[in-house]
This record gives sequence, structure tokens and C-alpha cells, in this order.
Amino acid sequence: MRAAAIAQPNIALIKYWGKRDVGRNLPAVGSISITLHELFTEMEVQLDGSLAGDQLTVNGAPDAGLLPRLSDCLDRVLGDDRDPARIQSRCNFPIAAGLASSASAFAALTVAAAAAAERSLETYELASLAGRASGSAARSLYGGFVELENRRDDIAVRTLRAATEWPLTVVIAITASGPKAVGSTEAMEISRKTSPFYSSWIEQQPHDLTIAREAIQQKDFAKLAAVSEHNCLKMHSIMWASRPPVVYWNSATMSCLQTIRELQAQGLGVFFTMDAGPQVKAVCVPEHAAQVGEALGGTDGVVDLMQSGLGEGARRTKMP
Ligand code: DP6
Repeated sequence: MRAAAIAQPNIALIKYWGKRDVGRNLPAVGSISITLHELFTEMEVQLDGSLAGDQLTVNGAPDAGLLPRLSDCLDRVLGDDRDPARIQSRCNFPIAAGLASSASAFAALTVAAAAAAERSLETYELASLAGRASGSAARSLYGGFVELENRRDDIAVRTLRAATEWPLTVVIAITASGPKAVGSTEAMEISRKTSPFYSSWIEQQPHDLTIAREAIQQKDFAKLAAVSEHNCLKMHSIMWASRPPVVYWNSATMSCLQTIRELQAQGLGVFFTMDAGPQVKAVCVPEHAAQVGEALGGTDGVVDLMQSGLGEGARRTKMP
């Protein structure tokens, strides 16, 4: 009744923003992401009937704040007549700062919980369950370039291309390390209810997905760069135009975009994307990663840098 699993966060290139069914947490649009390699969340789940309730530690410290969402996820995977669980989470990057920590957390938790209860579920079933906890988590069940299709009754997730077939590098410029002020779940609802651009976003997403899918199939970096940057800026424009406006960027975010534009003008293979936080993710061809890292590291307001290749989907690990 004890198992562990590891999952990597993923970075969306064509973004999930908005829900069509809030209760079931079904996205309003499909999305395409890349699963990272170096960043991880590892979850250990021990089911223990002698506990009074679920318990959670994150990097060794008790954390009651995150527990309710994790408990709900366990109920969905195991049924609400399950035994209480002792959950231990280890994460090697900042949590709730726009680095997709919920994606890797819920993907790892779903796999570990099913294994602890000796339930053998297919990857697509685990993805659907993880997606109910956090939409982006469904994509972390798969590695490489991943598409989440928005089907009528559920989601369907698949790998479009393995990480080894097109090994891009992601340099992450950390411009603030604290947790974000508005969570993505809440910000999506503000966008859906108040942004005048929301309906155009929904209409245009199938087109962006088609272009990105083609770019990945053709390994066409320039094409993937153009559609990904455009899609990211559209998502942030929706938020900027909502009431109240949701602005995740800080001045260093803007400076990083300027740096990336300069690198592009010099002919480097790099493009930017940003999520629900001020961090800038620079996706680049591996041979330009060192130069990209150096330029972003020297950009005003960048407090830290991380770098990652592309990795695999969530999987079970041996117990420590
Ligand atoms: C900007 O998956 O965190 O990172 O389903 O409400 O938990 P919930 O949202 P979440 O949102 C991710 C938003 C994004 C874009 C993306 O990852 O596609």
C-alpha cells in the first residue's frame, strides 16, 4: 500500500486557457506542450487505515495548504471510501510560481496513488484523472511533444514526437521566486467571464494547433517559434483586457523578451513563452543554449536561471 512516482513539469507552446466545464475541469481548448527533463516532482503515497486523515509534507515540511486538492485527486483515483494517505512530495524547483509545479505534482500523485492501491490503469486513464485535478497535469503523463485534444466528453492526450527525435533545450529565466498573486484556475475564469478577446481565442485555437502540429512533424523551428510566441501573447492579451486585469509580467519579464528579440536578430534559434507567472521560458536549439543562458543571465532583474532538455512522461519509481 505504498508506492512512489516521478513526473516532470511541461511547458505549453499552444496554451490551455479557459474551461468549458468548471466542475469536471474540462478545458475549453486543446493544447500542445513539451515535457521537461531536469525539473521534477516525486510523490510517495502510503495508504494507512490507522491515520485520522490525509497528511502531506513538501520537501520535508508539513503543508496543509495544498492538501485539499491532493486529497480530492486521491478520491478520484481511488474512490472516496479509500484509506487515508501519507503523502510525501519532493520538488526541485519553485512551487506555484508559474513553472507548472501543479502539472508535475498531480501527474506524479495520480501514478503513485494508483500504484499504491495496486490499480493498474492505462496511461490515458491516468491522464484523464490527473487532468481533473489540474488541466495541464494530463500532459505530464506523456513525454516529448504532447498534444491534449479537447474531446466532447473528456480529453485525449498523446505524444506527437518523442523527446529524443527533436531534442530542444529550455532555458528558464526566473524573474521572481515568490508564489503568484492569482492562481491560473481563478485567472482563467476572470478571462472567460470578462475578457472581450476570449471568444476569438477559442475560435482561433484549432488553427494554432494545426500549425504547431505541422511544425513539430516537420521539425520546423521557425514555424514552431512563430506560432508559439503568437499564441502566448494572445493568452496574455486576454488577461490584460479582463476586469480586473491579470498581469503576470514584471519589468524583468519584458527585459527578457527584449533580450530574446536581440538574440533572434543575431540569427539564434530561440523563442519565448510565458505562463501564469513572470518567468520567461526560452525554447532553443541545443547548440545555442549556452549563448541564450548567458544573455538571459545578464538581463536586468533575472534572479536565477534553470536549464532543461525534454523528458519522459510520469512513471513509477523505486521506493527509497
Ligand atoms: C498558463 O493546468 O494550472 O500554464 O486546470 O485550473 O489547474 P487548472 O489550470 P492549470 O493551467 C495552466 C495554464 C498555463 C497554460 C498551459 O499550461 O497550457
